[in-house]
Amino acid sequence: MRVSLFGATGSTGVELLRRLTATATVRCLVRSPEKLPEERRIGDLRQHPAVELIAGSSTDAAAVQEACADAEAVIVSLGGPPRGPGVDVCSTSQRLINEALNSSDGRAARVVCISSIGVGDHYQHCSLFAKFFASWIIPEALADKHLQEEMVRSLKNWVVVRPGGLLDSPGLRAWHAAEDACGFYPTIPRADVAAFVVQECLPPEERWLRRNVALVSRKPQGWFNWKS
Ligand SMILES: NC(=O)c1ccc[n+]([C@@H]2O[C@H](COP(=O)([O-])OP(=O)(O)OC[C@H]3O[C@@H](n4cnc5c(N)ncnc54)[C@H](OP(=O)(O)O)[C@@H]3O)[C@@H](O)[C@H]2O)c1
Repeated sequence: MRVSLFGATGSTGVELLRRLTATATVRCLVRSPEKLPEERRIGDLRQHPAVELIAGSSTDAAAVQEACADAEAVIVSLGGPPRGPGVDVCSTSQRLINEALNSSDGRAARVVCISSIGVGDHYQHCSLFAKFFASWIIPEALADKHLQEEMVRSLKNWVVVRPGGLLDSPGLRAWHAAEDACGFYPTIPRADVAAFVVQECLPPEERWLRRNVALVSRKPQGWFNWKS
């Protein structure tokens, strides 16, 4: 499968890339290729035969067009600052991704968007703690995610994944995935988000196709660090 991955240098993006190289060719649009790590197990990700790097920004239409060309699946794991300049990176980039897919043979591509709990109609399922966080700590970032989600849902084939607070701890593969998943202190290791996306959201899997799915650990652990 040919996958375009946006946000490959991010913490979740690297976890995605690690897994995708086993089964797909992965085209990544990255601002800073040098951020991709050396992998003990599979070697330098920058030199991996399954990885094609394009240097550029996801806010540049020509670069996004090139990154999306021939993609059978597009995974968007972009994130920006919680407020201020750049807080709109997800919606700005998604607009260009939609334009690229709609102006080419990419209309049937499966688009998997990493969003967040608390966005859109998930807010009603949030615990008091999660509502407080969404409404008072990161409202601008979630408003931008909301715009991004709307654009994703206008496409033909899509999955919106809404993870809880992200952890860098090892994956436990003990996730709860459901439209209304949350819990009082909802967290999930990035490694589990990546495993879920690769196992359950890409073709030929259909379970979550054209659905919003929240993803949290069954046994929350650790403190998450909201970066975007
Ligand atoms: N942190 C949390 O607790 C939490 C909770 C729920 C959902 N989420 C969402 O989950 C997703 C993944 O989060 P994360 O913490 O793993 O992400 P992250 O480490 O912050 O990575 C964000 C990625 O977006 C890239 N990016 C930003 N602006 C870009 C641009 N203009 N052009 C190209 N790439 C750009 C970054 O590239 P550079 O390396 O060049 O900066 C990086 O690869 C995000 O959408 C985030 O909002 C986060």
